[in-house]
Amino acid sequence: MKIVFATNNAHKLREVSQILGQSFELVTPRECGVAEDIPEEQPTLEGNALQKARYLYERTGLDCFADDTGLEVDALGGAPGVRSARYATDGHDPEANMELLLKNMDGVADRSARFRTVIALILSGKEYLFEGEVCGRISESRSGSEGFGYDPVFVPAGYDSSFAEMSAEEKNAISHRGRAVAKLAAFLQSL
Ligand code: IMP
Repeated sequence: MKIVFATNNAHKLREVSQILGQSFELVTPRECGVAEDIPEEQPTLEGNALQKARYLYERTGLDCFADDTGLEVDALGGAPGVRSARYATDGHDPEANMELLLKNMDGVADRSARFRTVIALILSGKEYLFEGEVCGRISESRSGSEGFGYDPVFVPAGYDSSFAEMSAEEKNAISHRGRAVAKLAAFLQSL
């Protein structure tokens, strides 16, 4: 089965395609003629995932899905949340984002947080949502060099090491995105 995934990020494409397995061929927006940035202007992860999937569906008419992820920190009222990519600047700067997060968490005792991913799927014009989350805490400082984004400052519950100290396989097995994609895969395989 061919399905369009709303990302041109090769790392994400590989990760998701590994979890979905060989029965699904993932196609990028670019490969089906959508070269522009897909808008994500909504105030929630659900809204953004749906906006991206609907945009693709309207332009291609093909079955498609889109995801959106946020890091939600309890002591910061759920921030950076839907603004995770642009927390410190408009420039998707992970170093600046982590620096601001550690500064805002300086001296804060409650360090609980979660990553949450929402996937919106449009199949024959019908919409479905899938969610995955991983709970954990924000560390006092960065550790590790694997992964991306906030991985060096996020320690999943039940572990002593940050996501950035884990292999991709270890992280995928427990991560927000891994869990959301596993739900999507189970749904698609049940059809
Ligand atoms: P996106 O919706 O997958 O593009 O994620 C939005 C932002 O959340 C990214 O730019 C990262 O800052 C952060 N993020 C998403 N997934 C992860 C992850 O697995 N580890 C660390 N940061 C992440």
